[in-house]
Formats: sequence, structure tokens, C-alpha cells
Amino acid sequence: MSVARSTDPLLSRDVLRPRAAGLKGWLMGQVMAAAPLGLGLLRRFAPLPRFGKLVIATLHDDVSEVFATDAAFAAPYRDKLDVITGGEPFFLGLGDGPDYRAAVAAMRRVVRPEDLPRLAHEAEALAEAAVAGAGGRIEVVDALVREVTFKLLGDYLGVPPPAEGDLRVWATRLFEFQFADPGGDPALRVQVEAIAPAMRAHIQGEMDRRRAAGLAVQPDDVLGRCLALQAAGEGWYTDAAIRTAVTCLMVGGPPQPPMVVPQALEQLLRRPRALAGAQQAARDDDDDLLAGYVLEAMRFDPLAPGLPRHVTADAMIAAGTPRARTVPAGATVLVAFASAMMDDRRLPDPKVFNPQRLAYEYVHFGHGLHECFGRHINRATLHLMLKPLLRRPDLRRAPGAAGRLSKNGVFAERLVVEFG
Ligand code: HEM
Repeated sequence: MSVARSTDPLLSRDVLRPRAAGLKGWLMGQVMAAAPLGLGLLRRFAPLPRFGKLVIATLHDDVSEVFATDAAFAAPYRDKLDVITGGEPFFLGLGDGPDYRAAVAAMRRVVRPEDLPRLAHEAEALAEAAVAGAGGRIEVVDALVREVTFKLLGDYLGVPPPAEGDLRVWATRLFEFQFADPGGDPALRVQVEAIAPAMRAHIQGEMDRRRAAGLAVQPDDVLGRCLALQAAGEGWYTDAAIRTAVTCLMVGGPPQPPMVVPQALEQLLRRPRALAGAQQAARDDDDDLLAGYVLEAMRFDPLAPGLPRHVTADAMIAAGTPRARTVPAGATVLVAFASAMMDDRRLPDPKVFNPQRLAYEYVHFGHGLHECFGRHINRATLHLMLKPLLRRPDLRRAPGAAGRLSKNGVFAERLVVEFG
């Protein structure tokens, strides 16, 4: 929580908005806390229930099927993305087709597999610096994971901090609007209408600055690579397309590690044997095994209970099974990927913490057409944000409430740990 508060959303230093007050806030907390139990009951007794215009897919197979059937179950993000981009299309808002494929292919040319070792190295180095400078006590959500993520991905994407304002606040507010505001909070909308154009102008300004500087060789970051391709006459890379893609990667990517990575640490702290295993993997530099621990810990408190899909044409889910259900056009399917990762039809012993699970068991990063564009970056970096902390001796929760992860809506808010 920062000292300098501003009512101007562009200048705010508060990455998360104040929690919903009173009964509303309390109810929201209760619903989130009860979700795993509720989804577990549905999985067992009514795995594909319908409540009016809402259908919930709880099984691993049905979650995979809905995510994989984009033609009937479309990602519902376009309208809000348009507010963020100023009406320019971003591929998360598109269905499959030439525009979607061209945009993803264009961004794959500038977000490259060969960058992963460098990103991994930087993630670990930044986390080490944060832990080394913390004097034996660190707040994990903001001072460790958010700090590392925004530096790492801001530099990688080529987005510098704005002269006034805070990218962490801007990106997180736009992320909340896009993904965590189903009720359409008018107060959030007011902030978004100030922040979205400022974010676009900031990225456009950086493009203009680089061109005006007459850079013969662009910096080797995502923005620089886009501008180099533009200068080489590659038609996809218009200013609008570059600005939109970089804006949306900034909004869609960095706000999420500060949610799931502290949640993973909280889950490890609850399981002394798993924590000891993760610490040993960190000390042994066994990064693959450490990634296994962190992905598995995330399974017990993933990003969200589920993601929405809009039904564009009457469609059947789980055809040929006793639970087969026809879903009418206009309905919404909540694709409960958190529940899928607890489905004993596909995961052996889902209640058991197992750091050696196979990749297919996880649905952390979605599935099908819109599977996370940053999933390889995630796989390369998330566990390394915790590695320096896990290597420290005598890692423990700070005394009192500070030492337990608190949440603000879907966002992890605060978790303080101490170490030797
Ligand atoms: C902890 C980190 C992350 C998590 C848990 C996560 C999770 C997800 C999920 C679940 C989806 C699917 C959304 C849907 O189908 O409705 C998704 C899509 C996406 N993610 Fe991530 N993500 C993370 C980090 C990133 C990063 C670092 C980037 C980029 C720098 C990124 C960029 C995207 C994009 C562009 C899409 C849309 C892909 C498409 O439409 O084809 N994400 N992410």
C-alpha cells in the first residue's frame, strides 16, 4: 500500500482498488472461498449443470472440449478489448480466421523461443536482487513478484515506465476491467476511460521517440523488433497493430504472476513436505523439478475458478455420454478449469500434491485457440521468481495476519515471509 494516494487514476500508486466494502465485499470473499467445494460437489453429482442461461463445465474433458470448440463457444472479450485498444482488433477478441492467425503469427516473429533462456536468467536475477535487498523479511505479492514481473516484461516488451503514473497500476486496472469485472462497475469504467488512452499514447509515444531518434538498429525487444519489421516494409506491422498488440500483452501478461505465484507460495507454506521438496529443488538448481512444484502448488489455488465462453450457435457438450447437454445460442458457459485440474477421471489422486504431474493434467493457461500466448514465458520464469527465496534458510511466515496470503477479489494482495 503506497503512501502517495491520488484521486487521478493516472497518478494512483495503489495497484489494487480498495476492497468492496460491507456485505458485498464479504459475500465476494465467501463465494471465492467456497468455489472449490461447490465445484467439487458439482463434479460429483451434476458435472455439467445449467442454471438458466449459464452452463458450468466442471470436468477435464468438458473443459477441454469447450475451450477447443471456438466456433460454437467464443471468447467474449471483444467489446471490452475495444475500450482498451480504442477499437483496434486484438487477437484475444477474434475468432479463428485469417486475421487471428496473421496477428498471432506476426507476434510469434517478435516473441521468440530463443528469448526464453535470457528471460529465465533475468527473472531469477531480479528475484535474487529483491530478496537480497530485503533484509530477511519480504512482502511477496508486490515487493517480490510484481516488482520482478513488471521489470522483466516491461523491458522485454519495450515499454518504459511513464513519466507520470505507474504501469503496474495502469495494466492491473485494465486487466481487472477486462477479466474480473463481470458486473461492469461504473467507477472502474471511469478509471479505464482515463487509463486506456494514456496507455496507448504512452506506447505510441515510445514508438515515435525511437523513430525520431533515427535508430538505425532498434533495441532488441518486442517493440523494437516490430519497428524493425515495419521499417523493412512488412505490411502487418502498422503503428496501430503494434501499439494494440504491445498494449494488450502488457495488460494480459504482467498482472497475472503477482496473482498465481504468491498463491503458489501460500500453498507450499501450508504443506511442509512440499515446501521442503521445493526448497531442495531450488538449492539443487533443479529448475524443472522446481517448476513442477510451483505448477502443482498453483493447481490448489489457480488464477480463477473458470473463464467464460459465449455460445454462438446451439451446440452439444459431452455428446455420447450420459451427461450430454445441448447448450442454446446466447447462453454462457463457465469453463471451470480450476475444477478440471481436480478431476479424478483425468488426474490420478488429484487431492495429492505431486510435483511430477504430466503437462496435460494442467489447464493453468487455457487450452485450444486462445491458450495463453505467454505460456512458454510462464513455464520459463514463474518458478524462478520464487527460487531465491526458497534457497534461503529458515523460510517462514511472518507472525500474525501478515504471514497469511490475503486477497482482494481475485487478486492476491499481501503475503509477508521471513528468512535467515
Ligand atoms: C501467470 C501468468 C499467466 C497466466 C496464469 C495466464 C493465463 C492465461 C489464460 C488462462 C488464457 C486463456 C484465456 C481464455 O481462453 O479465455 C491466456 C491467454 C492469453 N495470455 Fe496469458 N497468462 C499468463 C501470462 C501471460 C503473459 C506473460 C503473456 C504475454 C506476455 C500472456 C498473454 C496472453 C495472451 C495474448 C492471451 C490470448 C491468447 C489468444 O487469444 O490466442 N499471458 N492466458
